[in-house]
Amino acid sequence: MKKRLIALTIAALVIGTAGTALAATEHWNDASAQPGARTATYLSNATSFETWKNNWEHTKQDYQQISLSPGRNETELNFGWYSKKSGFAKIRISKSGSMADYKEFSGTSKKGTVVDGVQYYTNKVTVTGLEPNTSYYYQYLLNGFWQDKAKYQSQGTDSFSMLLVGDPQVGASVSQVPKNGDGTAQSAEIAARNDSYNWNVTLNSALKAHPDVSMILSAGDQINETVKDGSAEKLLEQEREYAGFLSPQVLKSVPLATTIGNHDSLTAGYQNHFNIPNPYTQEKGATAAGNGYYYRYGNALFIVINTNNYNAADHKALIDKAVKSFPNAKWKILMFHQDIYGSGLDHSDSDGIILRTQLTPIIDEYQIDVVLQGHDHTYSRTYQLTGDAKAHAKYDKSVDLDDSAVKAAFLAQNQCYQIVETGNGTITNPEGTVYFATNSATGSKYYELIPMQQDYIAARSQTWTPTYSLIQIDQNQFTINTYEAATGKPIDQSYTIVKTK
Ligand SMILES: [Fe+2]
Repeated sequence: MKKRLIALTIAALVIGTAGTALAATEHWNDASAQPGARTATYLSNATSFETWKNNWEHTKQDYQQISLSPGRNETELNFGWYSKKSGFAKIRISKSGSMADYKEFSGTSKKGTVVDGVQYYTNKVTVTGLEPNTSYYYQYLLNGFWQDKAKYQSQGTDSFSMLLVGDPQVGASVSQVPKNGDGTAQSAEIAARNDSYNWNVTLNSALKAHPDVSMILSAGDQINETVKDGSAEKLLEQEREYAGFLSPQVLKSVPLATTIGNHDSLTAGYQNHFNIPNPYTQEKGATAAGNGYYYRYGNALFIVINTNNYNAADHKALIDKAVKSFPNAKWKILMFHQDIYGSGLDHSDSDGIILRTQLTPIIDEYQIDVVLQGHDHTYSRTYQLTGDAKAHAKYDKSVDLDDSAVKAAFLAQNQCYQIVETGNGTITNPEGTVYFATNSATGSKYYELIPMQQDYIAARSQTWTPTYSLIQIDQNQFTINTYEAATGKPIDQSYTIVKTK
């Protein structure tokens, strides 16, 4: 018999700085400091910081790097890249390291971002017909020249794994002062150098421990500079961050399923760099970064929505389309940036939950198993949750959370859930949905946990170190483990959902 707890609808206490913008903490991952807690494996796995700094003058202006994204299913792979010339959107792929008997695929080449006064084109190509457990080599055509080949290893689909990372937010350590420096606060560019170095180290460490992952899921805020003022100068900063973000060698070989974070949402850089599958272009409230999307991998359906778009009808329409495209999905996994059920101080009772009252019933209706979130730069896992089937107010970004009366009503309305399972470890045939919020994978910025832990939270932590999660999926089980990247130590117990029907 399942325990059903009804969350108490108490008007939450409004404390202190509700709604006001909170700053990053003093904690950050300073590449110059090399804390002793990091293992030799973590540090030896990647380029040294000295070498990274020496290469940075080149890396920071290497806007034409390739990105790999999932295709519509495991037989496809999507490629995206900037170029200075148009009309060269081609990929060659071969099972041989000599590129013998390659197949060539063509795609689109469109006017994209202007960086530092130069018009770049955005190239998008989809490779099809990929077989499982096969080694491939590919080359991309850049301005008429075939680039060096890179390896892509396809994986199986009966039992597979994926990495999950949150808020790499390359550039977010801006204004922090490195321990072993000249005392100068980091400029945006030096922050991008620091954070992309740590991004590379985390990815290398995670891939070394889990070399057979099918892809990497990023829950949003790939970069930091929002370009709020629309200036060419800020756009250049953002593109330097994208250059740093795309520079880890592992990203040339493992596809990355990205999410639009609030920092990514205001420019077209995201959609110009990443060639997402099945973009839901019918969105009415789309942001400049583009759209939500979906794809199938094995028995799992992955849906990614852009929660910077506050039109929940758009998200429902996308989820409906995705679910109808794969009605037999054993696992339905939804990813978005703003943590509607998280536990960070900065967002989990304010802007992060604006869409909670609207998304919770949609997540119920489409029987989403797992939700992956970012935004709060802290780790949390909820109990299995459902909606409470009552009517609740709808909010969008116009809600004035600095007004204490508005905030009190907002928090009361957001008691819109029920905790339907309180088990930990392995849960069999559960009702409801489990929500994860990710800490930062780079440590470019960390937040405090919210002082009063919400009742829906089963586990949470702030380690002040980069973390990543490993998701393992097979016919009957979904398991997630979360690790401190520097040591490989788990930061939470393993959570497994078993489905016997
Ligand atoms: Fe973030």
